[in-house]
Amino acid sequence: MSLLTVLNLRIALATPYGTVDAVRGIDFSLPAGGTLGLIGESGCGKSLTALALMGLLPEGASVSGSMRLGGQELVGLGESALCALRGNRIAMVFQEPMAALNPLHRVGDQVAEPLRIHQGLARSQARKEAKILLERVGIADAARRMDGYPHEFSGGQRQRICIAMALACGPDLLVADEPTTALDTEVQAQILALLAELVAERGMALLLISHDLAVVARHTANMLVMYGGTVVEAGPTQEVFARMAHPYTRGLLAARPVLGVCRTWSVESENRRFHQNQPQRGQFLPDLQPHSPAMGQKDGVLEERRSQKWTAAADLQPTISKSDRLLGSHASTRAALRPPLPTIAGSVPSLQALPPGCPFAGRCAFTIEACHAAPPPAVDVGHGHRVRCIRPEAMAGDAP
Ligand SMILES: Nc1ncnc2c1ncn2[C@@H]1O[C@H](COP(=O)(O)OP(=O)(O)OP(=O)(O)O)[C@@H](O)[C@H]1O
Ligand code: SF4
Ligand SMILES: [Mg+2]
Repeated sequence: MSLLTVLNLRIALATPYGTVDAVRGIDFSLPAGGTLGLIGESGCGKSLTALALMGLLPEGASVSGSMRLGGQELVGLGESALCALRGNRIAMVFQEPMAALNPLHRVGDQVAEPLRIHQGLARSQARKEAKILLERVGIADAARRMDGYPHEFSGGQRQRICIAMALACGPDLLVADEPTTALDTEVQAQILALLAELVAERGMALLLISHDLAVVARHTANMLVMYGGTVVEAGPTQEVFARMAHPYTRGLLAARPVLGVCRTWSVESENRRFHQNQPQRGQFLPDLQPHSPAMGQKDGVLEERRSQKWTAAADLQPTISKSDRLLGSHASTRAALRPPLPTIAGSVPSLQALPPGCPFAGRCAFTIEACHAAPPPAVDVGHGHRVRCIRPEAMAGDAP
């Protein structure tokens, strides 16, 4: 059964330059205990969608449509009713933990606060629970450290504290808005693993907002891709990765910083031969794993650096720079190893001057006259996969 159902959600913002229709009629649902990834370029409306769910939109924002949480309508809910939900049934982990924590209060008291407000626990009982939560999210020596202030913790520890705060009342829905962007790659992986464990352990639903396709691929069952305030592609995550049907999603995938997957190349050095294969069309990101080489030969697909996985090709790079013997010219092999990162041509159109047709038309390689006529409707392309494009068939056979 659906825990969260969002229908035709629209968010308009009053700015000094006029009204901006930042979110333009998006639909999605999330079952109890389910995971949903939300991805898209900067400014496409991801955070506003999250803030709308929390009732934390900036002043001057107007919301229409419907957001139902377990049958309760959130659009139009008064502040006191929202306060009763926020931090209780819905909780949020923000991108920048220092901004989410109060620098003047001890972290233990901050984690205990929702327990006192929503569950009416006495201070001593709430602090006991806070200590257990801090231990659960991996704060070592929690009994002592809960009396510390936010500035005494590292960025990763602060985010763990924010997660403990968010979990305090056992929310039905956790909204995580780019929870690891401000952290280094190793800590990112730890925090995402912790979130995944906690979501599974507590049966919470998770709305995970990210710029990182690999994060969404690994941690969510369903995904939405937003562009210009609308959802342009949606469906089960594996299905979307296997058959990307919107040129924008394909552009995002092509632009991801994965090393060495663009070309096929082979190198012979120090009497060993290395070979790099191009991944198969539709290959799912988590399948891109290195595999053990045969004696004297290495095959591998370079993993993203972020995943911290060491691969055959990664340890090849220093070998190449002092290469003994390369198959093919040295320059071309080096170019193949460091291909330019593809980008999506053009930039996101201003929300105040969106074109009358498809918002992606100005950047799309498949644009035809009809794309300029009207915003494309969402069409079902099978297996629960929907795309807002009038010619998804144009993408068939064209691997990203
Ligand atoms: N308080 C505000 N006043 C005016 N415009 C705003 C405000 N907050 C957001 N916007 C505009 O609304 C649009 C969507 O913003 P939002 O923060 O949801 O983007 P986002 O997808 O989360 O981007 P990012 O990936 O950079 O976090 C942007 O064009 C932004 O400039
Ligand atoms: S509707 Fe047209 S412009 Fe828009 S994504 Fe599809 S092909 Fe490209
Ligand atoms: Mg944002």
